Amino acid sequence: MGNMDNGIPAVVVAGLTKSYGSGETLVRAVRAVDFEIDRGEFVVLLGPSGSGKTTTLNLIGAIEEPTSGSIRVDDVEVADLDLNHQTDFRRDKVGFIFQFYNLVPTLTALENVQLVAELATRDGAEERSRSRLGEVGLGDRVDHFPGQMSGGEQQRVAIARALVKDPPVLLCDEPTGSLDLETGRQVLALLREVCDQGRTVLTVTHNSTIAEMADRVMRLRDGTLVGVERQDAPRAPGELEW
Ligand SMILES: Nc1ncnc2c1ncn2[C@@H]1O[C@H](COP(=O)(O)OP(=O)(O)OP(=O)(O)O)[C@@H](O)[C@H]1O
Ligand SMILES: [Mg+2]
Repeated sequence: MGNMDNGIPAVVVAGLTKSYGSGETLVRAVRAVDFEIDRGEFVVLLGPSGSGKTTTLNLIGAIEEPTSGSIRVDDVEVADLDLNHQTDFRRDKVGFIFQFYNLVPTLTALENVQLVAELATRDGAEERSRSRLGEVGLGDRVDHFPGQMSGGEQQRVAIARALVKDPPVLLCDEPTGSLDLETGRQVLALLREVCDQGRTVLTVTHNSTIAEMADRVMRLRDGTLVGVERQDAPRAPGELEW
């Protein structure tokens, strides 16, 4: 899980800027954003639609390249990585959770997780995948296909898939956006548990209630960070109503 107590923040973003297009079609999606996320912290990046949340997450996860600025994850400068090292970085350092799960529909739960486990290390990939699925409460569903599972179950498969590589940082884009309240709470409780085990969790959402469970809330508006609040007594996911 990387070095957890070496005093280096999990994520350090400085002057992060991402623009799309040029001239009349120029969109400044992220504008000179600065922040740090500590190891083991649960941070919610909160903002309305179009404020730059997904873009920020994709920049941190090396899915997109910044126009300018610096991103350090687990002390790796993401912007400096060449293509091969970007692939290594995505495999080793970050796990992604998406709103629509992004499971392969023709593979079972176990196969979906194992596919990623094998990218990390072939040895024991099946065992590790079964064990992760057990941890998210799906030990009896390993042979089911995504189409045979509820949204919440599919999202738990996606969480097992992200965790099987043992990444220090988990990046979640509206992880409960497709789920009902109770199922959404269960998924958030699972993410909190993952965080309590020492991983760093960055969740983006437009839902201000979800922000109540965060250790820190960062507010994004028009690509700019407009406020950061530490919450000393974050609420338990089970108490949230939306
Ligand atoms: N590939 C792209 N090309 C051009 N513009 C883009 C591209 N991706 C995002 N944008 C623009 O950048 C801005 C930020 O988009 P982003 O997807 O990060 O917002 P968001 O906060 O995740 O919104 P939502 O809550 O709707 O998912 C928007 O104005 C969007 O239209
Ligand atoms: Mg988005």
